[in-house]
Amino acid sequence: MKDLQRRDFIKGIAVLSGAALCGVATTTIAKAAAPKEEFVAPPFPWPYQEIDPEYVRKLGHLGYYLEECGGGAFWAIMTALKEKIGYPYTILPMPTKEQFIAHLASGKKESPFAPILMQYGVGGVAGFGSLCGAPNGSASAITLVAPFKAAEKIIPRLMRYYEIEAFPTDKSNEYAVKKQFFPPKYKSEKSLPQSPSHSVLCHVSVGKWCEKAGYASGSSERSERCARVTGDVAAMAVTLLNAYYKGNLETAFPMKLSQETAGCMTCHTKGEKYETGNFTRGEMECNSCHTDMSPHKSKNKIKTAYGMDIGTLAGAAAVGTVAGIGAHAISKRASKGENDGEE
Ligand code: HEC
Ligand code: HEC
Repeated sequence: MKDLQRRDFIKGIAVLSGAALCGVATTTIAKAAAPKEEFVAPPFPWPYQEIDPEYVRKLGHLGYYLEECGGGAFWAIMTALKEKIGYPYTILPMPTKEQFIAHLASGKKESPFAPILMQYGVGGVAGFGSLCGAPNGSASAITLVAPFKAAEKIIPRLMRYYEIEAFPTDKSNEYAVKKQFFPPKYKSEKSLPQSPSHSVLCHVSVGKWCEKAGYASGSSERSERCARVTGDVAAMAVTLLNAYYKGNLETAFPMKLSQETAGCMTCHTKGEKYETGNFTRGEMECNSCHTDMSPHKSKNKIKTAYGMDIGTLAGAAAVGTVAGIGAHAISKRASKGENDGEE
């Protein structure tokens, strides 16, 4: 296994830096078709061809076993494309599916593999519990294979999917029970409890699931749940990519806000009308964090850029619109705490 890795590594160097390395040529290098000039990777987006979401679901699950959620989701999508298209995906330094399976079958604990891109996504960015690695790694893959304007449409849909889906999906549970996933031995073969997290945060997603399922965050069941989530999210990412390239992204996954979030966003959205609530941005489900709406019931504390009190919240929208104070107020807001002593 180690040898295979090393050979791949050397081959990778030969391809990446081409003739420059001829001085240290070995038979392996000689065999690799080294370009004469310095190698430059083609610009993104790289070519895309429709891939089977179910295959990617299984790859994502396998990928998690070695690269966890962030690396696993990224690896799954890139591997499916590499197997189908070849170059340029072949230049990404990452082990093959066969190498992963062989390592798992060997029963050796320690991974012989070098780290791969997006592996830092583990546990919501290196264990920090923020954005779950599965959508993070998938979003990175999407950015490589779709024009960025399209990625900006696809990725929020994936995030919304993550918020509302009850993970692990029925499909994933079914693959586990029927032993259709790739690893020779699973962390758990059970059909696992399902729960939607209404949040893209690892912390919330894992916490809510553990609470519902009764398994500890350090249990093999929780780990297996996250392997299935990784597959589920990577599968959705390619479902969305396939739809985008077929021209039916809108119908494949209409981008909806929950009723409550839509309500909040009539005032709290990225915009220039500070007084109406345009001092936030984003479209996560607001009520996963904000449950205390009492500030809205009391007198408005906000002052305009000109220092005048804008009264009750009911009047705020009107004042904001009429005054049209945008950038001023926002920059004042940014320095809040340094110059206004409020809370
Ligand atoms: C009609 C417009 C409007 C709607 C709808 C609205 N807000 Fe607000 N919200 C405001 C304004 C204006 C403020 C600033 C009030 C202040 O600080 O005096 C505010 C303040 C807040 C604050 C900050 C409170 C504080 O003490 O700093 C939070 C949090 C908040 N809103 C969340 C929400 C959420 C969540 C929703 C949806 C459930 C929502 N808002 C709906 C206009 C609105
Ligand atoms: C992951 C948790 C989370 C989610 C989801 C979330 N917020 Fe917040 N929000 C926060 C935190 C934390 C703060 C900072 C609270 C503070 O300053 O006390 C905040 C602050 C705010 C504020 C006050 C801004 C300020 O600095 O005074 C508003 C308004 C607000 N959020 C609205 C929303 C709206 C609208 C949504 C949905 C589109 C939303 N939030 C989603 C956690 C969240």
